[in-house]
Amino acid sequence: MQSEPVRVGLIGAGMIGQGHAYALRLLAEDGEVRPIAVTDFSVEAVDSARQICPFERVAADAQAVIDDPDVEAIVIVTPTTTHRDLVRAVVDAGKPLLCEKPLATSFDVVREMCAVVATSGLTAQVGFHSRFHPLINELVRLVSTNELGAPMGYTLRDDQYWPTGDVVPGHSSWRSQRAHAGGGALLEHSIHSADILSWLFGPATSVYARTRNVFGYDVEDTAVCTIEHDSGVVGTLISIFNGVRGREERRLEVFFERGAVEVTTDFLVGAREDSFLVQRPDQEPERLDVAALRDRHFEAEGIARRDFFVYLYPAARAFVRSVRDKQAASPTFSDAFTAHALVDAAYRSVDERSAAAVERAG
Ligand SMILES: NC(=O)c1ccc[n+]([C@@H]2O[C@H](COP(=O)([O-])OP(=O)(O)OC[C@H]3O[C@@H](n4cnc5c(N)ncnc54)[C@H](O)[C@@H]3O)[C@@H](O)[C@H]2O)c1
Repeated sequence: MQSEPVRVGLIGAGMIGQGHAYALRLLAEDGEVRPIAVTDFSVEAVDSARQICPFERVAADAQAVIDDPDVEAIVIVTPTTTHRDLVRAVVDAGKPLLCEKPLATSFDVVREMCAVVATSGLTAQVGFHSRFHPLINELVRLVSTNELGAPMGYTLRDDQYWPTGDVVPGHSSWRSQRAHAGGGALLEHSIHSADILSWLFGPATSVYARTRNVFGYDVEDTAVCTIEHDSGVVGTLISIFNGVRGREERRLEVFFERGAVEVTTDFLVGAREDSFLVQRPDQEPERLDVAALRDRHFEAEGIARRDFFVYLYPAARAFVRSVRDKQAASPTFSDAFTAHALVDAAYRSVDERSAAAVERAG
């Protein structure tokens, strides 16, 4: 018997909130979600979200979504500084939640939020949607099966156009202001990479980092980190917000005892940047068929549809299924703690001009 759809409320309908609205619409078509309420300070944002997804009503504010007795699970997609209060309000209401990354602009607040969520025992997921990327999952498989031997070291380059109004006309501009974003390319964008690296190689133990603010904002647009993991794996992360509008690419090269792998992705499903190259001893480099790999991954996950363009749909689907089945969701707030701890150590390293130890969850 088909179970009842999960009744969802959306708080924040800006750029990525509208992406969530699209994911919720597809899930509504799948019979897995009933989109109940949406709210945003901006009437235009709400209108756009409602054109994308048939929310039954517009709520006056975030608290009205949270208090709505018909809403059983909440998706929080507002700017980072608002996440703490909203997560706390949702937890107080005893409802499951999906909160966008970064959790907060300071690690003190992340610590507090993770403790609040852990104590509540509620189903809670964080917006590390790259965890649903088929190419990243293939790399995780290669690491966990030891197929190429032990991973030795890596280099990861994350770069993207500056997501701020000066560089991209019409874009919101909170990301280039420390008071609103807490940090620049490293925190806002490469928190995804901090999560992927921790997922692949285990928690980081120490970081040495340098940053630059080439565009003159009070947050960094350039960060380089040398990272050591508990597993012994070492690597470098370079994170850039540049002026190359339209560009968004992550390249991860991993060196194993008996293999070298180059994985390139961006955030779109079927992106032109996607590629996966594996080289084994005495063999020509093998370029995997990424479209076939993607299809196999989605089939294995039981995902039949292909009309989604970012990995929000599989992420939102995983969340609502966790809510429906009353199970823990993944990626968790604990995963977010680990990723934020890495970024926090990087910022401390910059201030102290020496390697900084990465805090571990208590
Ligand atoms: N996981 C990802 O890949 C990803 C991608 C982009 C953004 N994000 C994160 O998602 C969050 C939102 O980013 P965005 O790009 O959509 O920002 P945005 O500026 O485009 O939109 C934010 C929206 O939130 C609304 N808002 C602010 N406070 C609110 C409140 N209290 N109640 C209701 N609405 C409120 C604003 O009016 C605005 O429309 C940020 O934390 C960002 O870092 C995650």
